[in-house]
Amino acid sequence: MMPPVLRALWLSTAAIAAALALGACGTEGIEVAEDDPNYEGAVLFAERCSGCHTMKAAGAQGSANRELRNQGPNLDQRAESVEDVLYAIRNGGFSGAIMPQNIFVGDEAEAVAEFVSEYAGSEVDRPPAP
Ligand code: HEC
Repeated sequence: MMPPVLRALWLSTAAIAAALALGACGTEGIEVAEDDPNYEGAVLFAERCSGCHTMKAAGAQGSANRELRNQGPNLDQRAESVEDVLYAIRNGGFSGAIMPQNIFVGDEAEAVAEFVSEYAGSEVDRPPAP
């Protein structure tokens, strides 16, 4: 028998690996049209961010039920500005504690930020804060 602490660690590692593997599923479920300027950002998001964040427009369900600490906020439920997304990408989320830093840099970071700011918050009534 594994000691309970090790067992819990093992289980959460397996769950994270599963979440990341799901995140790698690619472009299925993307709701942005291929000729949309935000399509590239949606694809990048689906490839690298969907393991931890839910966002319908990218077919991403990574927030799931947020029982795991590494599961990020559901971005359908939060409006984000381009600056905030760029900050989160550079800093590793707002806290800098859990989300990896610099998953994207340069043009790719811009493309993802444009996409997220355009499509995040689809389940929120109010517009993003200025
Ligand atoms: C390993 C899991 C993980 C991955 C991969 C990940 N994130 Fe996160 N993200 C988180 C967690 C956890 C938080 C919440 C804690 C924090 O803000 O520090 C977060 C927070 C955020 C926030 C702030 C949301 C808010 O309103 O609080 C944004 C924006 C964001 N992530 C965007 C992205 C983008 C874009 C990508 C892909 C480049 C990405 N994340 C990849 C885990 C992840």
